[in-house]
Amino acid sequence: MRLIKDLKITTLAENSVRPRMLGQWGLSFLLDFVDASGDDRKIIFDTGINKQALLHNIKQLKVDLRKTDCVVLSHGHSDHTAATVEVVKAAGGVKVHAHPHTFLPRFLEEKTGKRRRIGVPKRERLEEIEKVGGKVLLTRAPKEIAPGVWTTGQIERVTHFEQALPLSKKERLIIIVDGNEINDQILDDQALWMNVDGFGPFVITGCAHAGPVNTLLHVQRIGNLKQIHGLAGGTHLVGRSDEYLTQTIKELEQFELKLISPCHCTGFKATTTIWQAFPDAFILNYSGRVIEVGKEPDKRVF
Ligand SMILES: [Fe+2]
Ligand SMILES: [Fe+2]
Repeated sequence: MRLIKDLKITTLAENSVRPRMLGQWGLSFLLDFVDASGDDRKIIFDTGINKQALLHNIKQLKVDLRKTDCVVLSHGHSDHTAATVEVVKAAGGVKVHAHPHTFLPRFLEEKTGKRRRIGVPKRERLEEIEKVGGKVLLTRAPKEIAPGVWTTGQIERVTHFEQALPLSKKERLIIIVDGNEINDQILDDQALWMNVDGFGPFVITGCAHAGPVNTLLHVQRIGNLKQIHGLAGGTHLVGRSDEYLTQTIKELEQFELKLISPCHCTGFKATTTIWQAFPDAFILNYSGRVIEVGKEPDKRVF
């Protein structure tokens, strides 16, 4: 197993904030670490929904985008993909890793037939990214994007209860694949994982539309792992029923997480439920949060 070191996760964009940061319904992380070959690396995972707010936070946090090694997109929703061109341009043209469904047109359709675009914003599509020097690499398979750091690829869905989104009966998700309109199961949803020296496997999620439990089970399977050390990112538990939350917590217990920092589409109720279930592992997340694996954070909650 190839091990990485000194993993530091900085939340560049998230729904909530600390002073001098701007919030948004979107997600973006910067991952700093020493890869399995001993080289310093910086990866941007997702690029939020509001470019101005993201760039404001990047400036405040004094992040130098020129040092970015690559970008990973967790999936093709607009709240994760709105500043990819800006980041790639600032980085001087880097690889962008994503699933083949990420850049396809997708909509939320109401019962009235009215459709809302929820996919990658117009000016952030594959062609625009390549125009500024980016190299978009699409695959469904897990991929080692830096020595010791892997995408999960398309996540196998094995739990009986997890669903991509809590949709009402009046809505439908649509994606256009090869010219055909099909129900969108958000198959592009993927996470990142790495094994941190001295601590264990760490998983970073975007929205976790495949379900947080499915995501961790998938990482366990492809990495041949027993326990998972940490999880940070969206869980899409917002708007779920009490039964759904209880089931999720029960199933999360099997991974013996030592660090859990849910955010973005987790929602207030699920975030507090996770805090109560895993008080010693929980770290509150917000724009500007820095988590260094192995170091006690400033405060776990405010
Ligand atoms: Fe999403
Ligand atoms: Fe999201």
